[in-house]
Amino acid sequence: MKKILFVASEAVPFIKTGGLADVVGSLPKCFDKEYYDVRVMIPKYMCMRQEWKDRLEYVSHFYMDYLGQSRYVGILKSEYEGVTYYFIDNEWYFSGYAPYGDWLFDLQKFAFFCNAALSALPVIGFKPDVVHCHDWQTALIPVYLKDRFRGGEFFWSMKSVITIHNLKFQGIWNVDTIRYLTGLSNYYFTPDKLEAYKDGNLLKGGIVYADAITTVSDTYAKEIQMPFYGEKLDGLMRARSNSLRGIVNGIDYEEFNPETDEFIVKNYNASNFRRQKVKNKVALQKELGLTEDPKVMMIGIVSRLTDQKGFDLIQCVMDELCQDCIQIVVLGTGEERYENMFRHFAWKYQGKVSANIYYSNPLSHRIYAACDAFLMPSLFEPCGLSQLMALRYGTLPIVRETGGLKDTVEPYNEFANTGTGFSFCNYNAHEMMNTVRYAEKIFYDRKKDWNKIVDRAMAKDFSWQASALKYQEMYDWLIG
Ligand code: GLC
Repeated sequence: MKKILFVASEAVPFIKTGGLADVVGSLPKCFDKEYYDVRVMIPKYMCMRQEWKDRLEYVSHFYMDYLGQSRYVGILKSEYEGVTYYFIDNEWYFSGYAPYGDWLFDLQKFAFFCNAALSALPVIGFKPDVVHCHDWQTALIPVYLKDRFRGGEFFWSMKSVITIHNLKFQGIWNVDTIRYLTGLSNYYFTPDKLEAYKDGNLLKGGIVYADAITTVSDTYAKEIQMPFYGEKLDGLMRARSNSLRGIVNGIDYEEFNPETDEFIVKNYNASNFRRQKVKNKVALQKELGLTEDPKVMMIGIVSRLTDQKGFDLIQCVMDELCQDCIQIVVLGTGEERYENMFRHFAWKYQGKVSANIYYSNPLSHRIYAACDAFLMPSLFEPCGLSQLMALRYGTLPIVRETGGLKDTVEPYNEFANTGTGFSFCNYNAHEMMNTVRYAEKIFYDRKKDWNKIVDRAMAKDFSWQASALKYQEMYDWLIG
């Protein structure tokens, strides 16, 4: 039995701020249980919902020296859908209102977490062959495995993988602070290790020291080796390109299934969507106070409202777009200026635009089911999960050709009758608008062709099956 430990800062259903949590919460159960024992470790946040906190069982605790003090490390666990989740408990670090807050405190919080996670392993008696880390929050683990945790029988053969879900976030502060928080010696703070542009950089440490590096789509794996997407680490990504691979994300096909989804008003499938899907649209129009009209084209946006997602393009042409016969439904939170922008347009175009500035999983399902199209004009997109959910619900993605969007949405070709959505290339608001208008034209004037695109979209398979095999292959190769 090969033993794998995922270490991450979030995992569905326990705690989620973004797509990282979906991946960490849905991939582990997709491995072949006969050969792989895959477990997950995350912090025990006070802000987890009570129903999840109630499920945790105490395992053990110990005290660990960190920053000159002896600190409590509690270990709890919970089985969920056949996977064991461990939780690292420390009230000082994990009692915020959200998993992340103050940058400097977060650096300390996750440096503590990386130390505690490795120290907990001998205590629970789980000795993974591979520790699979995710993003900057856990990027110190590959470094520690080659440093302070190197000696001794327990850790010496342990391999590490780091998966980059978003290269933009790296965990950067000045060298003195990072040296203090990590407890690493001067040796590590040179430009070939944790130093980057005179600062200390945690993610860089993970990328330098991990035995293998993955990111969440093929295109993003290539993009980050170039300056535009490389977030100043493109040189390092090129240097490590032999150890870097892109493995596209999947989604949980049980959870996201229009045929069985309990959150939506009318279930449907690939053979009856022509009649049934629209009932979800009318119900959502009622629910959100939009003009009730089964014929109008409804466009959905479910997203963190951040720069990455291309909202400045939408801002630029929203007035023009709202002259068209369309409805736009938004769900998500994020940067204040985008939250206010959507509130403003919802006020200006009542009955046409609905801004839901919060997060709700049930509402997100109803949006995927109700809308005709799903807009995602990202500036960059390591993988993107919403477009996969949209495809599954026969809601055609309109995307910019970057990262995982490029790899998972095939643009409609009206001559060859191929494609599962619509896409544009340049980060340009009018290019986006023209693509939306092209989609409108197909929707209104050539409904049969539109429905055939939906047929193809719903026939695609973006479950974890294929990608889980690729991770297994990588683990096998690492373990040897
Ligand atoms: C990050 C990326 C997103 C990706 C997700 C899961 O949120 O921005 O593109 O799908 O991680 O890997």
